[in-house]
Amino acid sequence: MSAINLGGRFTFPGTSLTVHRMGYGAMQLSGPHIFGPPKDRAECIRVLHQAIESGVDHIDTSDFYGPHITNQIIKEALHPYRDNLVIVTKVGARRGPDGSWIQEHGRQFLIDSVHDNLRNLGLDALDIVNVRGTGIESPDDKFDPRPSVEVIAELQRQGLVRHIGVSNVSAKHVADAQSIAPIVCVQNLYNVVKRTDDALIDDLAAQHIPYVPFFPLGGFTPLQSTTLNDAAASLNATPMQVALAWLLHRSPNILLIPGTSSTGHLKENLAAADLTLPADVIKTLEGLTTEKSA
Ligand SMILES: NC(=O)c1ccc[n+]([C@@H]2O[C@H](COP(=O)([O-])OP(=O)(O)OC[C@H]3O[C@@H](n4cnc5c(N)ncnc54)[C@H](OP(=O)(O)O)[C@@H]3O)[C@@H](O)[C@H]2O)c1
Repeated sequence: MSAINLGGRFTFPGTSLTVHRMGYGAMQLSGPHIFGPPKDRAECIRVLHQAIESGVDHIDTSDFYGPHITNQIIKEALHPYRDNLVIVTKVGARRGPDGSWIQEHGRQFLIDSVHDNLRNLGLDALDIVNVRGTGIESPDDKFDPRPSVEVIAELQRQGLVRHIGVSNVSAKHVADAQSIAPIVCVQNLYNVVKRTDDALIDDLAAQHIPYVPFFPLGGFTPLQSTTLNDAAASLNATPMQVALAWLLHRSPNILLIPGTSSTGHLKENLAAADLTLPADVIKTLEGLTTEKSA
C-alpha cells in the first residue's frame, strides 16, 4: 500500500485546507449504538494513531458520538494535533438518556454544541462545522438550514469556527445555506447501493465543493451483495475495498470517511485507495443500486 497517496488530494473551496480523499470517520469509536464507552478503548487509540501515521489528515466526528466520548478519545490519542489535520464536526442533534437521537437547532443549543466540541477536542477553533439537518435516509424538507447557518456564521466571525458545511440535506437546503454563508462541504448518505444523491454530487462537483458520503460501507448494516463479492474476488480485494474504490472513482469531489473501531479494518479500508477498478467491474457495479442485499 502506498500510504501517502490515499486517493489524491482535495482542497475545501475558499480555504487553505487540503486533505487526502481517503479520510476517517470517528463515529465507531464510541460504544454499541454510538452510546457510552467503546469495548476496547486501547484499540480505538491505536486506530487513530495508525490513521495519522498512514497519512490520514481528515477526521469526521461529532460531540454527540458517545456523547462526548469519541471527541475525548480523539483528543487523548492525537492532541496536540498535527498542523495538517482537518477535524470536521457537526451540530444539530443531541442524545437522550436512553441513547435516542434528538434533533435540535435552537440558537443557544448550537452555540453550546460548538463549545462542547471545542472543549472535548481541546481546540480554540473548529476547522469545519457541519450544520446537520434532520433525516438519515432522506433529508427532511421542512428543515430550514438558514437560522442554524446564521448562528454558526456568527461563531465564525468570533473566530471559534473556521468554515461551515452542511449534512443530511437536499439540493434546496444547500442553496438555502449558501444564501447565508459559503458552504465548504456537504455530507449525506450515499454508497454503491444508495445513490439518490447522484445529481447533487455532480452539481457540487461543478462548484468544486466536496461531497462526503456517510455510511460509505452501509453504516449500521454493512453492505452485503453477491455482485460486490464477485467483483472483490476477481480483483483479489475485499467487498468493502471495492465499495470504497467505487466511491473514489464515482466523482473526484467525493471525500471518504469510512468508520471503524478496528486497526485491521482501517488498514484494509485505506488500501482501497490503491485499488483500480477495471471498466467491466465498474459497469457491473452500476447495476448494483437495484440489487437486493444478499
Ligand atoms: N451526518 C450524519 O448524519 C452521519 C451519520 C452517520 C455517520 N456519519 C459519519 O460518517 C462516518 C462513516 O459512517 P459509519 O461509520 O456510520 O458507517 P460505514 O463507514 O459505512 O461503516 C462502518 C461499519 O462498517 C464496519 N467496517 C468498517 N470497515 C470494515 C471492513 N473493512 N470490513 C468489514 N466491516 C467494516 C464497521 O465495524 P468495525 O468497527 O468493526 O470495523 C462499522 O460497523 C461516521 O464515522 C461519521 O463520522 C455521519
